[in-house]
Amino acid sequence: MTSLASRITSAGGVFVTGTDTEVGKTVASALLVRALGGSYWKPVQSGMADGGDSPEVQRLAEIDETRVHPPAYEMTQPLSPHQAARGDGIEINMADFVLPDRGRPVVVEGAGGVLVPLNAENTMIDLMDQLQLPVIVVARSGLGTINHTLLSLESLRKRGLDVLGVIMNGPRNVANAETVSTFGKVPVLLELEPLSPLEPRTIASIAARLGTAMEGEQP
Ligand SMILES: Nc1ncnc2c1ncn2[C@@H]1O[C@H](COP(=O)(O)OP(=O)(O)OP(=O)(O)O)[C@@H](O)[C@H]1O
Ligand SMILES: [Mg+2]
Repeated sequence: MTSLASRITSAGGVFVTGTDTEVGKTVASALLVRALGGSYWKPVQSGMADGGDSPEVQRLAEIDETRVHPPAYEMTQPLSPHQAARGDGIEINMADFVLPDRGRPVVVEGAGGVLVPLNAENTMIDLMDQLQLPVIVVARSGLGTINHTLLSLESLRKRGLDVLGVIMNGPRNVANAETVSTFGKVPVLLELEPLSPLEPRTIASIAARLGTAMEGEQP
């Protein structure tokens, strides 16, 4: 029996993936950074024209820039990484992804979902495997989430990755959370409701709850 927090600490961090783009990975990452006293890394950032995710995590988790690691790849257009890279005339090389280590657990935010291509051969799940981090899946709370979430979990497990749990984001849907947990054989770590405004104070108080959930003993 080990707590999720200690599994994260001993691995050096946690990988935050999602069932889709725009599901709330960045908000969940800010919560995890806050809950774990961690640092943040978005290894592949497309859509840099829109500013990227790092400044939002820095704002929400209230951390200074020493706790934000620069992306290995930044691409201009808001496309899937392999397409955005092509647009910028570059190719993503897996050897460039090395987990930064500054003495804190690193919260690594993926791009899109589990099988989003990075280059002609590799997808996001190859990066998770390469970094050997346990994984948290962020999913929408509402209709359609069960299939997307269970497919993502199945894919992660097939690769032998350590799946810590799911964060459901959106208006609370108890039935969906229960179904995901039962069929996915996974804890739902947090049901994150819509926050308005989305501000550091609220993130801090929810992070405290998430931290407590992750300190609990897990089989
Ligand atoms: N619980 C929430 N309450 C209020 N706003 C939210 C919440 N979750 C997400 N959002 C908003 O929804 C949008 C998408 O969320 P977010 O950026 O976290 O998604 P993402 O999965 O990180 O997307 P990407 O794939 O682009 O990295 C953002 O504008 C974010 O502020
Ligand atoms: Mg994001």
